[in-house]
Amino acid sequence: MVERVQDIATSSKDTIPADFIRSENEQPGITTVHGAFLEVPAIDFSDPDEEKVLRAIEDASRNWGMFQIVNHEIPNEAISKLQAAGKGFFELPQEEKEVYARPPGSQSMEGYGTKLQKEVEGKKGWVDHLFHKIWPPSAINYQFWPKNPPSYREANEEYANYLHGVVEKLFKSLSLGLGLEGHELKEAAGGDNLAYLLKINYYPPCPRPDLALGVVAHTDMCTITILVPNEVQGLQAFRDGHWYNVKYIPNALVIHIGDQIEILSNGKYKSVLHRTTVDKDKTRMSWPVFLEPPSDYEVGPHPKLVNEENPPKFKTKKYSDYVYCKLNKIPQ
Ligand code: SIN
Ligand code: FE2
Repeated sequence: MVERVQDIATSSKDTIPADFIRSENEQPGITTVHGAFLEVPAIDFSDPDEEKVLRAIEDASRNWGMFQIVNHEIPNEAISKLQAAGKGFFELPQEEKEVYARPPGSQSMEGYGTKLQKEVEGKKGWVDHLFHKIWPPSAINYQFWPKNPPSYREANEEYANYLHGVVEKLFKSLSLGLGLEGHELKEAAGGDNLAYLLKINYYPPCPRPDLALGVVAHTDMCTITILVPNEVQGLQAFRDGHWYNVKYIPNALVIHIGDQIEILSNGKYKSVLHRTTVDKDKTRMSWPVFLEPPSDYEVGPHPKLVNEENPPKFKTKKYSDYVYCKLNKIPQ
């Protein structure tokens, strides 16, 4: 059976196993700009000036690949319920969690697990996770939705329903920002078959947060990621050649532009390089939702954005092929 970081954390008092000690060029103790928080743009979704909101999304997606949304329409209560349900799952006895383990050799990421990507130098991240789709209903595999705590299903369904408004507004703004019609970008990303893949990251306390990383540096593969963290800081973004802690605003949604939007926009929007650190005393958790094209959907630079002066900067390929290449470190 795979050893879970949650178990390793329980038995690690002052030191951590060598597999978790990053090389010096990755150790957060050495490579973080200390004493400075990165103020990523905060965009107010309740602002009645739609043009202003649109321009702010466009600007942040071009120049940061990342922003936060405040005053969105998702009630804080719905977010708290989602968080309590996920926390309840990770606090179950280990054998109850293993019922939801990703089946070995499965084609999909869904399930409870510990490591996804082949990491640089075979090092491990200080994090366990649970992946399952939350939308559309036809794509949901309830076998990966915990039965405990009993509130789990309702909390996740409710959150998925609240996300639709945010998803529509983001795609519409990004589409208009490219000079396309409002519906065209989402259509090119899978339209109504766009899947919402939820990941819960569980980062137990770590005796050496200066040496370990939670999730190693990466850009998200999907189109857009909508993330809610718990109250423990730990998200870092790479900017101007340095790693910075991102200061997030309580109850804000953290948005990452992913690789598929960079590709669809033919490089106008940028996916953001980010990683996570862990805390000495507290458990950090986060709930990213990855908006993914269907696996057999071909994604490439939007045809309306390429011409003789603007040749395509990326190949067009099936989303599943993109994911396969990225996870196996095969050049795209
Ligand atoms: C991730 O990028 O996969 C995790 C982000 C986070 O935990 O904040
Ligand atoms: Fe990520």
